[in-house]
Amino acid sequence: MTDLAADRTDDATLRARVAEALARSRARTTALTDAVDDDDLTRQHSPLMSPLVWDLAHIGNQEELWLLRDVGGREPVRADIDALYDAFRHARRDRPRLPLLPPAEARRYTATVREKVLDVLASVPLHGAPLRTGGFAFGMILQHEQQHAETMLATHQLRPGAPVLAAPPPPPSAGMLGTEVCVPGGPFEMGADAEPWALDNERPAHTVDVPTFFLDAHPVTNGQYAAFVDDGGYDTARWWSPEGWAHRREADLRAPMHWRRDGAGWAYRRFGHDGPVDPAAPVVHVCFHEAAAYAAWAGRRLPTEAEWEKAARHDPATGRSRRYPWGDDPPTRAHANLGQRHLAPAPVGAYPAGASPAGVHQLIGDVWEWTSTTFAGYPGFAAFPYREYSEVFFGPRYRVLRGGSFGTDALACRGTFRNWDLPIRRQIFSGFRCARDPRPGEVR
Ligand SMILES: [Fe+2]
Repeated sequence: MTDLAADRTDDATLRARVAEALARSRARTTALTDAVDDDDLTRQHSPLMSPLVWDLAHIGNQEELWLLRDVGGREPVRADIDALYDAFRHARRDRPRLPLLPPAEARRYTATVREKVLDVLASVPLHGAPLRTGGFAFGMILQHEQQHAETMLATHQLRPGAPVLAAPPPPPSAGMLGTEVCVPGGPFEMGADAEPWALDNERPAHTVDVPTFFLDAHPVTNGQYAAFVDDGGYDTARWWSPEGWAHRREADLRAPMHWRRDGAGWAYRRFGHDGPVDPAAPVVHVCFHEAAAYAAWAGRRLPTEAEWEKAARHDPATGRSRRYPWGDDPPTRAHANLGQRHLAPAPVGAYPAGASPAGVHQLIGDVWEWTSTTFAGYPGFAAFPYREYSEVFFGPRYRVLRGGSFGTDALACRGTFRNWDLPIRRQIFSGFRCARDPRPGEVR
């Protein structure tokens, strides 16, 4: 009796938590799509991105497929549009030519689906089938909507014209920063078992022995990166991998995306606002090849994914892995720059409360951090709920990014969360930090 009652209470708490998160995610989607007119919504601002109206109806369609039809067992709302919004059927560059739902219809469709989903949420058992257990499918769809919100934010950064988004500036630096931190060698637990909404690629938890390494105490800043540019970094083949150098030449890369010369310094157009590049903020909009070239120039290297996660999660006092660098508590505005609360990365040192016990800052939020690791399943990986979520992307083509950006919602960001992209991509909110091996005799 007691256990059942407890279960019911937990279910009620979970349902309320899901309903609140659904409303919050939809408010963000609505703000991002209502900020521009219909012409802007249907236009493609870059061949790398979908028209915003595609993202909008795709969010509704995925919600319909997984929560209404699968979890809820309900009749389809619009089975006729499934193919249009199947990301695997149409590359982003081709999406503007599809017979997409016009903005008003896309809004109506997503609202209709949501209404029915709230009814499913109120009635479906949150246990039994794996998709329902712990509300997993709801968590997956919530993360999906928030991931598309970040993608839509990246589209906003690419659209020309006057600013349409507003947010207060990020907090200033509080100082208290070292330059690098030594992470002593030894095993740690990587990946997630207990996290109920962790995705298939974060599972299963497993032990990884990571040799001693040094990691930057903060992401590489614009000021540090500008020194590389000014030192002729983009003209010097030896800092670049052969693949990276070929891409640098072909794409004519000369500086991070959106930078332009301004007298002796650099200026940046951010969501329609012009301003100087802040030398104290993490560099953003660099591709993997640029990050690796900078690291070579600096006499360093990119961290592996395991090194990044160990620095972010391993608690040397207890030996256990935590959810975040600061502990197990969910992120607050004191911990990290997440959730589009600000429209830029914060200067390094702005989140002392979010640092790891060893003093590594801003691992979570601000900028996604490129790692040197290619995307692969952990030992014992099992695709869930479908191969297309992660498994079809495993292999040498994609590099892993960690930690989330200022545009990532806390729901889709944790110490185990894995993002991946092609090494040439930089329209995403991507930055990096460097690592190095100990010098001979440096550590005993
Ligand atoms: Fe999607």
